Amino acid sequence: MKPPAVKLKTLIDSETLARRVAELGREISEDYKGESLYICCILKGAFVFAADLIRHIDCPLRVDFMRLASYGNATESRGKVKITKDVELSFEGCHVLIVEDIVDTGYTMKFLVDRLKLHKPKSVRICAMLDKRSRREIDVPVDYVGFTIGDGFVLGYGLDYAEFYRDLSDICVMETP
Ligand code: IMP
Ligand code: MG
Repeated sequence: MKPPAVKLKTLIDSETLARRVAELGREISEDYKGESLYICCILKGAFVFAADLIRHIDCPLRVDFMRLASYGNATESRGKVKITKDVELSFEGCHVLIVEDIVDTGYTMKFLVDRLKLHKPKSVRICAMLDKRSRREIDVPVDYVGFTIGDGFVLGYGLDYAEFYRDLSDICVMETP
């Protein structure tokens, strides 16, 4: 199967990403000093970000994975969200840090935070690599943001287009022909 042909422009290069991820790791380590963390990595898009981020967090931590799907087409998400893979480790009484790729309308994170709170964590915070703040439709606090970006469709560094391009080291924006 071949990747769909796209025209790409680098938005955030790998060196800039690495520097920001290290900063986020330091900030998170300070905030959770003396605590242990439960990292909830949202598949598939956040796996590269989470893998880099956890190596900059200086606290004892456990990692688990959840996969969420929003009903919609390839480039636009809709308001309805479902869990297609749930976490396996219990997080009751834990400081949960959700590690997400992009917060766009906010529906996905709003759904997840409400859902996780049912299981009585000690706290729930969100760390998003990218924030498309201008597209927010529902209020959700994003505690740690890598970069705030505009509303173009981005891929690379874990993010896909039709399941391809997750392996790109830079975050690129798709240019419409
Ligand atoms: P929300 O529910 O609208 O906030 O949707 C967030 C989800 O939409 C993210 O987890 C991504 O999977 C997806 N998404 C939004 N914008 C992009 C993009 O530019 N590239 C890839 N995925 C995106
Ligand atoms: Mg996603």
